[in-house]
Amino acid sequence: FLPDLLVLPAGYLLGSIPFGWLAGQWLAGVDLRQEGSGSTGATNVLRVLGKGPALVVFLLDVLKGTAAVLLAKAVLQPLGFSAASDWAVVAAGLAALAGHIWPLWLGWKGGKAVATGLGMLLGLTWPVGLACFGIFLTTLSLSRIVSLSSVVAALSLPLLMLGSFGADGLRPAYLSLALLTTALVLWRHRSNLQRLMAGTEPRLGAGRS
Ligand code: G3P
Repeated sequence: FLPDLLVLPAGYLLGSIPFGWLAGQWLAGVDLRQEGSGSTGATNVLRVLGKGPALVVFLLDVLKGTAAVLLAKAVLQPLGFSAASDWAVVAAGLAALAGHIWPLWLGWKGGKAVATGLGMLLGLTWPVGLACFGIFLTTLSLSRIVSLSSVVAALSLPLLMLGSFGADGLRPAYLSLALLTTALVLWRHRSNLQRLMAGTEPRLGAGRS
């Protein structure tokens, strides 16, 4: 039971490493929470610092989500409680998302759960993660709007998760994770959704005043 509890703070701590904010501080002396959309995620890094830093932050944010889940799997699966550890691994992934969105170190102001969510999915069940990323990239190439692509990918997640169960049978923990992740991503994109509906959300390369 103790390892189940320990993977939660470990997941939160990994998720809370504020790579985007650190990039802003180190490369330009700016606080990303005060710039652009105010998010510490890779999209805002792209807007404020450019392509190279954005790519590095994106990869590191993905990696921390994957690391949280793989760490939990490594600690829990050898213990052999497969149903219980399903929930514990999922909880560790969600803890990483929470750390990214609400980092203790930055007054609880972080990112929007997209790159870290992708990393979490890749660690948990990589075909679903890849499919979600494919939907994100397809929407992005058609619309050139990152937030719209994130929202579409998030909405597709529960369906992709359901579709992936197949031979494996229903995994309630994974489905719960999908539903919660979708809700979190949508909730974090509330201001983006308002701009999308008003037709004022900027496309890639257009900047934001
Ligand atoms: O992944 C975050 C993206 O969907 C939106 O970011 O900075 O444009 O609000 P941002």
